[in-house]
Amino acid sequence: MPPAHKQPLPNATLPTHVAIIMDGNGRWAKQRGLPRLEGHRRGAKAVRSTLTAAFEAGVKYLTLYAFSVENWKRPQDEVGGLMRLLNYFLKQELKTLQKNKISLRTIGRTDALPPSVRKELAATIKATAHHKDRALILALNYGSRTEIADAAAAYARAVAAGKENPDDVSWDAFARHLYTAEIPDPDLVIRTSGETRISNFLLMQSAYAEFIFTPVLWPDFGKAELLACLAEYAKRERRFGQTGEQVAGREKSEK
Ligand code: FPP
Repeated sequence: MPPAHKQPLPNATLPTHVAIIMDGNGRWAKQRGLPRLEGHRRGAKAVRSTLTAAFEAGVKYLTLYAFSVENWKRPQDEVGGLMRLLNYFLKQELKTLQKNKISLRTIGRTDALPPSVRKELAATIKATAHHKDRALILALNYGSRTEIADAAAAYARAVAAGKENPDDVSWDAFARHLYTAEIPDPDLVIRTSGETRISNFLLMQSAYAEFIFTPVLWPDFGKAELLACLAEYAKRERRFGQTGEQVAGREKSEK
């Protein structure tokens, strides 16, 4: 039998939205006696191979946790290096996005990013906005709690403007004000580097997601590792609060 990542994936079990906490760049560099920024540089290469593999496999939304609201606390040269890397990545990847009909979106307080990054983001988002079927979503200056606070403020403003009625509040009504309003919830969340934390990433949106924690450090992640995660996801049974028997019955009646 071929290894898990080479086995064909039945479409019904392919996640529509994969979200990744890319972790381990620093450790990858340290193991090799290299500066942390070299780890991030190799991390950007892993982004390139993972994104191509994900969309080739049929994933429609890929969210990458590229910079958190807490990451500003890192040394200034590392933050600057990450921003430069992001700019370089955006310039390099526009062609790939266009060729594969992928739009770029962002989630997070992007207003606080350096002007050069904001400019490059805005240009890439505009140039790819017509690709409606697939999206690469970069979480930048993102934190789930900040997102909830921003959504609460937006919801309150909508109530004041008479556009929302708090008597009818529901998750769907509130979720219209999240950064992810037009993006389906992630089906699969992957974290690399062996850490088993969520780190303030898509807390509400991943309420029913499957999680995979892999020991692979992010710079070593790529097509084979992603396909192995997709194969693992395909084996899981998602219940959404139902019993295993109900899920089995539903699948039978769909055939
Ligand atoms: C976590 O590794 C990684 C980050 C905080 C940054 C992620 C950035 C990239 C993968 C490269 C640039 C991104 C794009 C989209 C081009 P860490 O530094 O916390 O690793 P450690 O825990 O081993 O120190």
